[in-house]
Amino acid sequence: MTKRYDGQDEPAVDNITMEIPAGQIVMLVGPSGCGKTTTMKMINRLIEPTSGRILIGDDDVTHRNPDQLRRHIGYVIQGAGLFPHLSVGDNIAIVPRLLKWDKKRIAARVDELLDLVSLEPGQYRDRYPRELSGGQQQRVGVARALAADPPVLLMDEPFGAVDPITRQRLQDELLRLHDELRKTIVFVTHDFDEAVKLGDRIAILQKGSRIAQYDTPDRILSEPANDFVRSFVGAGAALKQLTLTRVRDVDLHEAAVAHVGGDPAMAIEAARALDREHVIVLDEQDRPQRWMSLTELEDSGALTGVARDEALECVSLASTLNDALDEMLTSSHGVVVVTGRRNTYQGVVRVETIMDAMENLRRSGEPSGTAS
Ligand SMILES: Nc1ncnc2c1ncn2[C@@H]1O[C@H](COP(=O)(O)OP(=O)(O)OP(=O)(O)O)[C@@H](O)[C@H]1O
Ligand SMILES: [Mg+2]
Repeated sequence: MTKRYDGQDEPAVDNITMEIPAGQIVMLVGPSGCGKTTTMKMINRLIEPTSGRILIGDDDVTHRNPDQLRRHIGYVIQGAGLFPHLSVGDNIAIVPRLLKWDKKRIAARVDELLDLVSLEPGQYRDRYPRELSGGQQQRVGVARALAADPPVLLMDEPFGAVDPITRQRLQDELLRLHDELRKTIVFVTHDFDEAVKLGDRIAILQKGSRIAQYDTPDRILSEPANDFVRSFVGAGAALKQLTLTRVRDVDLHEAAVAHVGGDPAMAIEAARALDREHVIVLDEQDRPQRWMSLTELEDSGALTGVARDEALECVSLASTLNDALDEMLTSSHGVVVVTGRRNTYQGVVRVETIMDAMENLRRSGEPSGTAS
């Protein structure tokens, strides 16, 4: 496709040809103004191409009615782009309403999606965007894009405006969603680390959306096609390769576990059996609540009404070892708790695990694990 804006000498997008495999996450990375947004908006015809064709499956959508097309392609714009005068629920319901779903089905879908992006429906459905944090707004943006279950999702720097920890969580959530839903996702970012973490494939774009390299993250890291790509990969490629190893790729350790409402004496026994000083306390749904020391557990009421420790940070199976290391460096335990679907406890990663992984990466001199 090519896009030439009126009055511009150079095309904003100069004859790009790209095949995006169904069900994968493809990252577009490149300098400001190189044509990423223009490329993406041509996919759902928010911008009309000057020339070229767009095929989705075998379907030539180049001349399809753009309104209809857009209902089948979810779009997450930068900074969530929620309508401020609509509640969270109404924001999510926009496309289903356009599709004239009945009320019950829409209400059920809204709650299902809020649940999917880890926002308690009862608590968030009726709030307004200004009553949410930036990260929560972006989750609603993702929920809204998913509302009518489109097979294709376009995301333009969706996590650009949030702090690094929230961004890491949103990235993990996106990977988890992708595991569950297998959408085809085109994702624009400035952040090469984000591209490595999320992408099945990365397209490094130069001015005019010219493709410098379109490849898997490990190939781009290990065999950059030219100096332009090399400048993106940058220094610290060794540490970046920690970004290529997922928590699910390493053997998790077992922590001693107790349940809210359980017997502290048994928890102490469990900890001693594993030679641990702390247990991780889970709620009825196996979601981690807090660490508890053996001393705390000597109180027979220790496991009654345990409140969640707000400072307890977990990583998910889709997180990278880099994320896990970050978490560890800010916690006092030298271990980080790993959660899976619906935030259920899976195990822990210990600092030794990360050291071993780094050692292996250094020795092999090439990336381990997979980015898929
Ligand atoms: N409506 C427009 N009219 C004229 N030129 C435009 C228009 N929109 C974008 N451009 C130009 O087209 C080029 C590509 O813009 P585009 O928004 O696609 O870049 P981008 O890669 O998304 O950049 P960024 O990373 O800053 O978001 C830029 O040079 C931009 O100035
Ligand atoms: Mg842009």
